[in-house]
Amino acid sequence: MQSTYDSMTIQTYATYEELSRKTADLIIESVKDKPNPLVCLASGHTPIGVFKCLVEDVKAGKLDISNWTFVGLDEWNGMNGTTKGSCRQMMDEDLFEPLSIPEKQIVFFDGTQPNVQAQCDEVNELIHQHGGLDVMLVGIGLNGHIGMNEPGTAFDTFAHISQLAEETITVGQKYFPGETKLSTGITMGLKHFQEARLPIIMANGEKKADIIAKVAASQPIESLPASIVHMTPQAYIMVDRAAGSLL
Ligand code: PGA
Repeated sequence: MQSTYDSMTIQTYATYEELSRKTADLIIESVKDKPNPLVCLASGHTPIGVFKCLVEDVKAGKLDISNWTFVGLDEWNGMNGTTKGSCRQMMDEDLFEPLSIPEKQIVFFDGTQPNVQAQCDEVNELIHQHGGLDVMLVGIGLNGHIGMNEPGTAFDTFAHISQLAEETITVGQKYFPGETKLSTGITMGLKHFQEARLPIIMANGEKKADIIAKVAASQPIESLPASIVHMTPQAYIMVDRAAGSLL
C-alpha cells in the first residue's frame, strides 16, 4: 500500500521480508546510473534484512557494488569494529565481510580515536564535495531519533558528537553481550538526511508502531528528530504491517 503524506511517501508491506526486499530494490534502483554512489547505511536490527538482500544479489551476480562507497551512519563513542555489538562490528558481520568489501570503499567513524571531531569534519567535507549522500537509510529509535540525533537536535546539523538520550542508553544495551557503558555517540546529521537524494526511514515490528504514527502525524519539530521527513519531500518511510498498524 502506498500513501503520500505531506509530500514524503509512506510505504507499508505485509512482512519484514517484503519490506527488506523493496527497500533494497529502491536503493539499488536509485544508484544504478551513478558512477560513484555514496551510500549511507544504518546498523542496528532494522536493516539486517536489507543487507541480506544486497548480499544475495551480489552473490547471484545481479548486483555490482564495486563502485559504491559505504558510509556508516553512526558509532558509539569509544568503540570501533573490534567491539562486539558496535555499529561497525554489526555491519562488518552482516554486510562488509560477506561481500569482502575493501576498506577503501568504507567510511566509518572510529570512536576509539581522540580526533572524532576531525572525523566529523572530514566526512562532512566528503559528502559536501559529492553534492550530498545518494542514499541515507536509517532506522528509528523509540524516542524518534534517527542515527544518534536525539530529541532536541537542530535540523541543520551535519555530522557531530551527540549526547545520548537515557532511552537510547537503555535500549542500546540490546546490541551488546553484557552491560555496556554508553554516553555519547558520533553521527551523521539531520541535514544530511534532508539533503540526501534518497532518504529512507525504515521500521518493522509492533514496537515501532507508536513512534511511526507519531512521526507521520507530527509537524516538523526538533523534539522529534524523525519529523524532519515533513521537510524532506523526497523521503520515504518504509514499514511492515506491524510498524504501520497505527497509521
Ligand atoms: P534498531 O535501532 O534498528 O535496532 O531498532 C533503531 C535505532 O535506534 O535507530
